[in-house]
Order: sequence, then C-alpha cells, then structure tokens
Amino acid sequence: MSSVLQKLISPQASSAAEPPRNKVTVVGVGQVGMACAVSILLRDLCDELALVDVMEDRLKGEMMDLQHGSLFLKTSKIVADKDYAVTANSRLVVVTAGVRQQEGESRLNLVQRNVNVFKSIIPQIVKYSPNCTIVVVSNPVDVLTYVTWKLSGLPKHRVLGSGTNLDSARFRYLMAERLGIHASSFNGWVLGEHGDTSVPVWSGANVAGVNLQKLNPDIGTDADKEQWKATHKAVVDSAYEVIRLKGYTNWAIGLSVADLTESIVKNLSRVHPVSTMVKVRHTHRHSVLYNWGSMSYFGTQSASNHQPSDLLCLLSHSHPMKTNFHVVAVTQNSILAL
Ligand SMILES: NC(=O)c1ccc[n+]([C@@H]2O[C@H](COP(=O)([O-])OP(=O)(O)OC[C@H]3O[C@@H](n4cnc5c(N)ncnc54)[C@H](O)[C@@H]3O)[C@@H](O)[C@H]2O)c1
Repeated sequence: MSSVLQKLISPQASSAAEPPRNKVTVVGVGQVGMACAVSILLRDLCDELALVDVMEDRLKGEMMDLQHGSLFLKTSKIVADKDYAVTANSRLVVVTAGVRQQEGESRLNLVQRNVNVFKSIIPQIVKYSPNCTIVVVSNPVDVLTYVTWKLSGLPKHRVLGSGTNLDSARFRYLMAERLGIHASSFNGWVLGEHGDTSVPVWSGANVAGVNLQKLNPDIGTDADKEQWKATHKAVVDSAYEVIRLKGYTNWAIGLSVADLTESIVKNLSRVHPVSTMVKVRHTHRHSVLYNWGSMSYFGTQSASNHQPSDLLCLLSHSHPMKTNFHVVAVTQNSILAL
C-alpha cells in the first residue's frame, strides 16, 4: 500500500540530489561559533549549514535548536556531527574552535593550546572540502591563520583570518557615536594585528570624504586637545571589558564574520581588513620578506590577481612567530613608516 508520501509526491528524477552550492561549515559551537552560525543563517548566505564540535551533546542540542527555527529561515539543511564527513563539499569553513581568553588574559597566551586544537581540525576540513575557503576566527587569529595556511596546504588566497574586521567595526561604531552619526557613515580602518597592537589609520579617517586629519592635524596624537586617540584605546580595551562583564564576546564577531562570509560567497569584491599573507619590502634590510598581518581583501577571485604593492597593507610588530617588524603601510608602491 502506498504511503502518504508516495501518494503526495511522485519524484520526476531518479538521480541523487545535487550537492550544495553554498555550504558553510562552522567548527566550534561555542559562543562565537553559534553567533557566526545564526548571523550567517539570518542573512541567507548558505544553502546548507554544517556544525562540528567535540562536545557531542552540546553539538546535537545546538543543531536541533536551529533546526526548530527552520520555519523562519531560508537554509533548508542544517546538519551536525563530530565526524568531519558532515562538512563535505563546503564552500566556506569558519573555524571558531579552541580556548578563549579568561578575564584579563591576552589573546597571544592562547596560542599553544589552540595550535594543538588546529592540528586535529585543519587536515580534516581539507580532506572533505579541498576547494573550500577557510576563515579563521579563533585567537590569536593572525598567528592561527598562518598556522592554518601551513597545515592546510591551500593556496594563500583561500585561507583568511577575521583579522581587524571586528576592530575596525568597533572603531567605526565608537567614532560615529562620538560624532552622532551611524557607524556606516564614519569611514576608518584599524589595521595590523587583531587586538592589543592594532593600529588606527588616522590619515584615512573621514565622513563623506571630509578628512578628519585636515580638520584637526593633531588627531590621534598625544598633542590632540580633543584626545580622539581614546577611541582607539577603547577599541583595544573593549574585548577585555566585555569579557569582564559577560564572560566572552560573541555578537559583534558573529555579525562581522557573516559580513565577510557574504563578500566571499557572493564574490562581492568588497574590501575588508583580514589576516592574510602579504609580501612586503622590509625598509631596514632592503630585502623582501613574507609576513602575516591584516590587509585589504579584494574578493575571492580577484585577490590573487593583485600584486602586494597594489594593496593597502599594514603589518604589526612583535609577533611571537615571526621576525620583529616595524609598522609600515604599503600603498601603491610607496612604503610609509608610521
Ligand atoms: N577573531 C576575533 O575577533 C575573535 C572574537 C571573539 C572570540 N574569538 C576567539 O574565538 C574562539 C572561540 O571563542 P568562544 O567564546 O566561542 O569559546 P567557547 O569556549 O564558547 O567555544 C569553543 C568551542 O570550541 C570547541 N572545541 C574545542 N576543541 C575542539 C576541537 N578539537 N574540535 C572541535 N571543536 C573544539 C569547544 O568544545 C567549544 O564548544 C576563542 O579562541 C576566542 O578567543 C575571536
């Protein structure tokens, strides 16, 4: 006797369903991973979402909770497993797994523990999705992006870190708040290493093309009577403050990762400050060295077509895993010491 399903729906094709076109995997379903997952879902950026974690009950619980919201989402397939087979054919993999800062702890303090975590995760991701792009979020994000690139064997334009995308968003919000305008109407960049040693680019800060440094040549310096540099200090302090208040940060990083995700899956050619491999000329030794820091990103297709000297990039100093660097900005073939 035919079932309700057989009576209701008669398949027109006998072939297997097509693989997903925009599958996104989030590794790590902690506070950051779930904020990324929800932000990506609410912006309709994937046709399948896969979640992976080592904590099986929590993983299943998060999957079920999201699935129960399917009526309000446009992602029909949400899956989860500790086995990375569930991530197969991902277009984008967001890695948020690992330990987070405790109150007052620096991001760099997490490095060895999270490198060990990444050694088990990255080969599995690449095994099941050899054509994916990986976005690293776990801290210290710049170091772990480099580690991911090394562990993955992927081309450098397919391994990114969230870099100073969040720092720049915090800066734009705080500057805009002081000016009484919306965050999107203040244009400014925080570059370099995510977190404590990030660098605000005051020379580029503007509203509707009106350069703030022209209005106040001392802006961002100690000589500035208005002390605008306090805004960048607040950016650096903000993660510590939020962690002190609620134990972790998650919503702003989740929203900013969804924004990066949109640029990548839709190939929007937007410019973001992310952690990526950049090639710079070291001004002191006159030799070309490779380094890792935040730089502008020009979209999934075009990133690899640009020469490093075409890109605005800025590197921070005193990374534990690299030669000490002075902060330099590279713009259109010129190198400026900042
Ligand atoms: N880049 C940024 O701007 C930014 C912002 C906020 C937080 N972070 C970082 O994001 C990371 C996650 O933070 P959180 O608050 O979500 O932490 P959390 O403790 O809430 O979640 C971490 C998750 O990773 C999982 N995990 C641990 N080892 C794993 C493994 N081998 N495989 C799969 N999953 C594993 C844990 O089970 C846990 O669910 C931290 O490193 C934190 O510092 C980065």
